[in-house]
Amino acid sequence: MNLEILPVTEPKPQITDESSLVFGKQFTDRMFVMEYDTGKGWHSARIQPYAPFSMDPAAMVLHYSQEIFEGLKAFRRPDGSVAMFRPADNVRRFNQSARRMCMPEVDEPFFLDSLLELIRLESDWVPRSEGTSLYIRPTMIATEPMLGVRPADQYLCYIILCPVGAYYKGGIAPVKIWISDHYVRAAEGGTGEAKTGGNYAASLYAAREAALKGYDQVLWLDAKEKRYVEEVGSMNMLFLYDGKIITSPLHGTVLDGITRRSTLTLLREMGYDIEERAMTVEEVMAGAQNGRLQEAFGTGTAVVISPVGSFCYKDRCVQLGDGQPGELTMKLYNTLTGIQYGRLPDPDGWIITL
Ligand code: COI
Repeated sequence: MNLEILPVTEPKPQITDESSLVFGKQFTDRMFVMEYDTGKGWHSARIQPYAPFSMDPAAMVLHYSQEIFEGLKAFRRPDGSVAMFRPADNVRRFNQSARRMCMPEVDEPFFLDSLLELIRLESDWVPRSEGTSLYIRPTMIATEPMLGVRPADQYLCYIILCPVGAYYKGGIAPVKIWISDHYVRAAEGGTGEAKTGGNYAASLYAAREAALKGYDQVLWLDAKEKRYVEEVGSMNMLFLYDGKIITSPLHGTVLDGITRRSTLTLLREMGYDIEERAMTVEEVMAGAQNGRLQEAFGTGTAVVISPVGSFCYKDRCVQLGDGQPGELTMKLYNTLTGIQYGRLPDPDGWIITL
């Protein structure tokens, strides 16, 4: 398939104050778009000016949420070049989500090349200040106008870009986590491990309740027993417990996070034992109180590494250590961002420089 490049006639003003960047609010000049029809396959791939879509009100995505997305970042390096972190892994996961949601897969080499070409064309939009990056959002939606419940025959796949600052307003500040004993995000056999919008929509009610009580995020327990900690929606959870790392196994309800995978590799390289096992909420709460739980942090593309300051479950709240980011958490944050921004070597070959 050919990739057509259409000109931008009315460029947006460039960002002058990078300190005002808010996550996911401001978009660049161009986007990648391609279309799919059953029998014809993917076609009309192009990089075009960023613009709204016009869509039939019966488009299936609007009714039955047949949608998937990805999140990855491009980073400005000290020499001015732009680097991407493991983009092929995101493209692979995009196709895994597509299979789960009965959507057409993309041609991985073509999609990755198109993504890199888009970043090259938009490289002026990659911000330069500490902690900023260009967030990349590949998305696929079912566009066929049809109210029957079945996989659609028409899709739109697109990539949009936004220059971003830190995901949380407090930057690397520790987050307050509410462990929900009532609401659940994903059940075994469901769509929990797919990156599909419905999983995020399902999390909003509990997240709003948590926010009203003064918490930053919800930590989800397993749907069956409501006993084992799983993930925080926008991040996987890792625990430093008795000197070992514990994280939920990937058994269908937890996203196979690329930052999670990279962090586990770094931890193995640092000599830590990793236990991918179900950890009970009691272990977390008691561990925070008796000191066996030394650190806890989330991992994700948007958040990178996010330290947890406290957990609240039912009527009980526990602070972790002195409530400040732990030593290992900070070391991982500095190592990962060091690799991404080119301050540290990249021994595992995760970086592609444009
Ligand atoms: C990411 O970390 O890229 C995510 O997709 C999480 C969130 C912003 C939805």
